[in-house]
This record gives sequence, C-alpha cells and structure tokens, in this order.
Amino acid sequence: LLLGIDLGTSGTKTVLFDSDGRRLASHTVEYPLYQPQNGWAEQDPEDWWRAVQETVRTVLARSGARPEEIRGIGIAGQMHGLVMLDGQGQVLRKAILWCDGRTQAQCDEITDLVGREKLLSITANPALTGFTAGKILWVREHEPENYEKCRHILLPKDYIRYKLTGEFATEVSDASGMNLLDVPKRQWSGEILSLLGIDRSLLGEMYESCQVTGKVTKAAAEATGLAEGTVVVGGAGDNAAAAIGTGVVEEGKAFTTLGTSGVIFAHAGQVTIDPQGRVHTFCSAVPGAWTVMSCTLSAGLSLQWFRNQFCPAERETAAALGVDPYELMTAEAEKSPIGANRLLYLPYLMGERSPLLDSDARGVFFGLSAIHTRGDLVRAVMEGVAYSQRQCLDVFREMGVDVSDMAICGGGRSPLWRQILSDLYGCPVKTIASEQGPALGAAILAGVGAGVYGTVAQGCAAAVRTGEHSAPDSAASAAYEPYYDLYRRLYPALREQF
Ligand code: XUL
Repeated sequence: LLLGIDLGTSGTKTVLFDSDGRRLASHTVEYPLYQPQNGWAEQDPEDWWRAVQETVRTVLARSGARPEEIRGIGIAGQMHGLVMLDGQGQVLRKAILWCDGRTQAQCDEITDLVGREKLLSITANPALTGFTAGKILWVREHEPENYEKCRHILLPKDYIRYKLTGEFATEVSDASGMNLLDVPKRQWSGEILSLLGIDRSLLGEMYESCQVTGKVTKAAAEATGLAEGTVVVGGAGDNAAAAIGTGVVEEGKAFTTLGTSGVIFAHAGQVTIDPQGRVHTFCSAVPGAWTVMSCTLSAGLSLQWFRNQFCPAERETAAALGVDPYELMTAEAEKSPIGANRLLYLPYLMGERSPLLDSDARGVFFGLSAIHTRGDLVRAVMEGVAYSQRQCLDVFREMGVDVSDMAICGGGRSPLWRQILSDLYGCPVKTIASEQGPALGAAILAGVGAGVYGTVAQGCAAAVRTGEHSAPDSAASAAYEPYYDLYRRLYPALREQF
C-alpha cells in the first residue's frame, strides 16, 4: 500500500492506495486562511500538522489497513509558501502563502540585485510575488527579530516531512518555485543565494521527487498511527504531483485544470524558458525532466461568478432536483452556436497572470446585443476561458514544447467545455478515471522510492486510468479561429483603459 498526502490551501487530503492506484480510503481536514491585511495570505503550520495527523489516523481506521502494510509515503503540497523554524524546530511565524501579494518591492529588489537575464537563466523564472525568495527578504526587512532566530526555511509540505522524519529536506519540483534553485542544474544556486545574502545553511538538502528523504520517527509514529521506519520520499509541488497522477510523464503530454484558476502543465524533455516570463518553468517530479506551466486566475471562477450573480433560480432548481447547477447552465449554453452569436468574454476578473502578467486587466463582455440570451452569455464565458487556455498553449508551442495529448481535471470535466477545449487545442482531451489530483501522484512517487515500481512511468502505467476522450472536430476548430483571433486582439486594444 502507498500513502499520498496532499497539503492544499483549503485543507489536507490524505489517500491510501493499493499499487494499482485503487483508492482504499480518503479523508480531508480543512483549516483557516488568515488575511491580516488586504492581499496578504497566511496559514499556521501547526494546523497543517494537526490535519495530517487526523487524516492519516482516519484513513488507517477506515481502510482497516495495518500501518506496516504501507510501503511508502509521498507528500504533495501548495507551492511557494515560506515556513521559518528556530534552532529547536519551533515555528517562528505563520507561513506566508503562494497567494500572498505583499512582496512587489522585494521582487523589484531581487531583479535589481541579480539582474533580470541572470535570474531567468538560472531560476528559469522572473521574480514573482507568489514565489518564496521575496517573502524571505520581506521577513528580513520587516521582522528582523524573526529572521535572526531563523535556522531553517522550509516549503509547506517540507514542514510535514520534518514533522514525520526529523529531516530538513526538499525536492526539485517544489524548490523550483522559490527563485533560489538553479533549475537547469537541479540544485541550490550558490550565486543567487550570495547575491541575495541568504545563508545556504538555512535551506534543506535537495532530493529528486522519488528519492527517499527519511523515515517516520518514533514520535511521529505515535502521533499519526504510522509504523516507525516507513519511508518518506521527496514528493512534489501540487501541480507536479498532479502531473504524475494524470500520467503526464513524457513529451507531448499535458494536463489542463479548470479549478478557480486555470492551469496547463506540460512535460518537457529539456529546460525551456520563455524569455518574456509569461509561463513558469520548473523541474519535473520525473528525474531528468522539466515542466512548463501556465496559470490563469479566473477560469472556474468566471463560471462560478456568473452562476452566483445571474442564475439564482438555477441554483434553487438544481438543489431541489439534486443536480449540479452547472449542468443546467451548460444545457442553456449548448443551445448557443460556436462564437455565442458573436459575443466574446475576456476572463480577467482578478487581473491576469499567464500570459499577460497584468494585475490591472479586468473582465469584458464584448459585442453584447439585444438578441443575446443568457445561454449565449454562459457559452461566451466558457469559450472565453477556453481562449485564455489556448493563448497559454500557443506560448508553450512557440517555445517548442509539444502538446498533443491533453488530460483534463476539475471543472473541465463538463463534456461541452471539454469539447470546446479540444477544438481550440487541436488535440484530443481525455478525462482521468482514477483519483483526481496530487495525492495519487505523491503515492506513485512513494512507490518508486520504496521499490514497488521501477520508474515513475511504470508507476503511472500501473496506477493511472483514463476515462472519456473528446477528439477535435476540424470544422468546429476552423469555426472558432476568427473568434479566437478577435479575442487576442481585444486585450491589447483595451489595455490602456483598464
Ligand atoms: C503554482 C501556484 C499554485 C500553488 C497553490 O505556481 O501558485 O498552483 O501551488 O496550489
């Protein structure tokens, strides 16, 4: 058996699998997000550890598995967050999360100190407020007493590793989101650390994602019910783990998630960096490989916003019928033709990250007329989100990253949305029938470290099952092109007006 722990932002989900990827038991425990100021986001690492203890105990009890049957543990988690510990391993302050935006001044400072070109060539990414280095500089400037006491800097899931094994360690996929890793060389960049004045001894040992990083200690065994000595592998950042859990482990493969945000995550056989920094380049959880990732900010959020504001009756009817309100909305959208009767939607409700990098951008309905129905509006929202994903995919293809086989998770499981994506991507889009999300990927990595599988690809072949396929319809693909072309021209025309 293999255990996958997914330390998310809303909660921790722990899942026990057999080696065929079948889920034996799963449990999620939520915890609060603190927003002490507008745009700040923090969590208490002690809450994460409590959630891990509770979910592991519940999963063991529900499955009836003996702890000794678990061959290995993998941890996946929210990326970029800053955890600081003192010399006794005590948490010094709440963790500053990936979605915290307080560090623009520190990011500018990093760009000045290192130089934009050098930063891109070594860390593969520009200095971004979500990433960890800016957060470290922020604490050094604003809370020098905490920085002085700090002896260990960890990413969120690596704090759980420390609690389970006593080891201070990380792995390449998650460390890629810190602006401190030499991403091509897969090790800490001594040059960047010295330019930023960050002591190497603060950072943990670096591993590949499927390597064993330590074993469950006696104290952790008592706290969780796990067996002392069970191996814990590197694990991965949440998207890198989801890639393993959806079988995205060779060139040509990618997945799209339409959660609140929209992510496309593609496997790349070599380091490929966008000189404009419009998409992220990270180390893959597969040894010797890299990944390219785009993140748009209002994908599922756009449809959720539309539902909440304009579909109150659907919400009530759906609740009474016991169906998903989105099904009623998509049924209306299906009556609208490709192009939604020449209505376009730009999904920039929260500004945009990929590929625009413009926090001032805002949402737009373009071309509204008195003929439009609500079904046209829903369709325009779904198409607009799909255009924004296609625009990211165009950047991948411009970089030479081949994408010909796409898996889909999250909201994109709607058959209509999946077909729109397939027509716009020009490649098949398939659903995943096995467990969705990073926990399975983390468990597969654990299986490689524990010797259950020979390689990550073999683990995926054994444990990941695909579901339905949508194939692109060439006539539909051609019909979308003029609308997509118009979509691409709208943002540059409006940019100055936002
Ligand atoms: C990746 C990113 C998110 C976080 C939170 O760059 O910001 O996916 O990992 O889940």
